[in-house]
Amino acid sequence: MSFFRTVSALSKLRSRAVQQSSLYSSVRWLQIQSSPEQDLRSQLKELIPEQQERLKKLKAEHGKVQLGNITLDMAIGGMRGVPGLLWETSLLDPDEGIRFRGLSIPECQRVLPAAFSGGEPLPEGLLWLLLTGKIPTQGQVDALSKELQGRAIVPDHVYKAIDALPLTAHPMTQFASGVMALQVQSEFQKAYENGISKAKYWEPTYEDSLNLIAQVPVVASYVYRRIYKGGKAIPADNSLDYGANFSHMLGFDDPKMQELMRLYVTIHSDHEGGNVSAHTGHLVASALSDPYLSFAAALNGLAGPLHGLANQEVLLWIKALVDEHGENVTTEELKDYVWKKLNSGKVIPGFGHGVLRKTDPRYMCQREFALKHLPDDPLFQLVSKLFEVVPQILTELGKVKNPWPNVDAHSGVLLHHFGLTEAKYYTVLFGVSRSLGICSQLIWDRALGLPLERPKSVTMEWLEAFCKKAA
Ligand SMILES: CC(C)(COP(=O)(O)OP(=O)(O)OC[C@H]1O[C@@H](n2cnc3c(N)ncnc32)[C@H](O)[C@@H]1OP(=O)(O)O)[C@@H](O)C(=O)NCCC(=O)NCCS
Repeated sequence: MSFFRTVSALSKLRSRAVQQSSLYSSVRWLQIQSSPEQDLRSQLKELIPEQQERLKKLKAEHGKVQLGNITLDMAIGGMRGVPGLLWETSLLDPDEGIRFRGLSIPECQRVLPAAFSGGEPLPEGLLWLLLTGKIPTQGQVDALSKELQGRAIVPDHVYKAIDALPLTAHPMTQFASGVMALQVQSEFQKAYENGISKAKYWEPTYEDSLNLIAQVPVVASYVYRRIYKGGKAIPADNSLDYGANFSHMLGFDDPKMQELMRLYVTIHSDHEGGNVSAHTGHLVASALSDPYLSFAAALNGLAGPLHGLANQEVLLWIKALVDEHGENVTTEELKDYVWKKLNSGKVIPGFGHGVLRKTDPRYMCQREFALKHLPDDPLFQLVSKLFEVVPQILTELGKVKNPWPNVDAHSGVLLHHFGLTEAKYYTVLFGVSRSLGICSQLIWDRALGLPLERPKSVTMEWLEAFCKKAA
């Protein structure tokens, strides 16, 4: 790809952005005209007072109820099991896995609107559910889809900020930099500077959040095309829904890949509040940093190998295994390989979890997708073999609390099957989908007036003295 072709493709994309920008105000006007029943913001406005009352009542009537004991192990062990956060959009059960506003993944697959009968849930429907706690109608999802399209205008300086980085910069670095550059347009920051009242904080937070959710697929696909496709960016297709359009802008128009993207964005969107990215977003936002600042911080946490980067690590791990033993590796060879990795002090990526104690339902639904659409894929078969071999070995190791596979053990081979083979990009996809969960909760953080987060820290000396006194 020559430099000139690259530049011309990018400038086409940008001039389209300018044209879209001029349409933006009229699209927003039309949205304001849509019925309150189908307008997400109007629905939220109705819900917020009752939830504010609910929290006020909890605090007034039960504020001093003890939620458990904090042990020294918990304080020095990454705060495992400390119930110290309010997170309304989802709840994680160690055995059963995630529930989005009370609905399990199979339930979401059954009840949320899909692109066609029996298809995977549309991420827009999940976003509606996360924000309102209600299952949306097809009409509400269609209206939200259009609203997000209207908001998906990325300013030119964002592309320039990304272009300032070397092509060799990790995709997550480029993506997070793009999100930081989006911050320039924050409505919350402007409203705060203009002295907005506390009671209205949620409103510009809503605007920023919806804009951010709408714009991250554009930024993410720009990063992908810039690094791996010679800068040949693909404009949005507004006839498509959020997931399918993201797939399209990345360069994948296979209907099955579009379905995968809808499923991917839905199941990766939220995993209660204590995981590194969600907690980071919530913490940063508690300082009244706007959604862009908060979400960019969350992405930097997601980029760690023990968290979101694990999906990249899994595919690279599997490829290294294939390089050494081929695709038809025997069970014995596989066992030896896993032990060799463990004995060299490495973790097996895609297995284990900070909270879950059973196989992740996000793994299971991706496995079902693979069984339906790509049962003969050799890498899928390898993933299945790992499912048979690794848990037993991790159990034998003795110290691993959860030997079962997590979400990341599966996602890479599905993407690889449809041609998205660049493993280093995978965490960016995870980041796009996390915008739905993290931003939904940020809106509620501001609506509920949650305070600055400030847990107590202690020194080893403090702990020693405390324990001596307690003995
Ligand atoms: C997810 C993860 C970070 C959770 O960590 P955790 O809550 O501390 O997990 P545990 O309490 O079970 O850890 C106990 C021990 O088992 C080890 N362990 C946990 N999962 C392991 C794995 N997949 N492979 C090897 N060792 C593992 C830990 O490193 C720890 O060892 P240490 O005591 O020598 O430090 C961990 O399971 C892991 O590193 N998994 C691989 C990376 C991954 O898939 N991350 C994505 C998560 S969705």
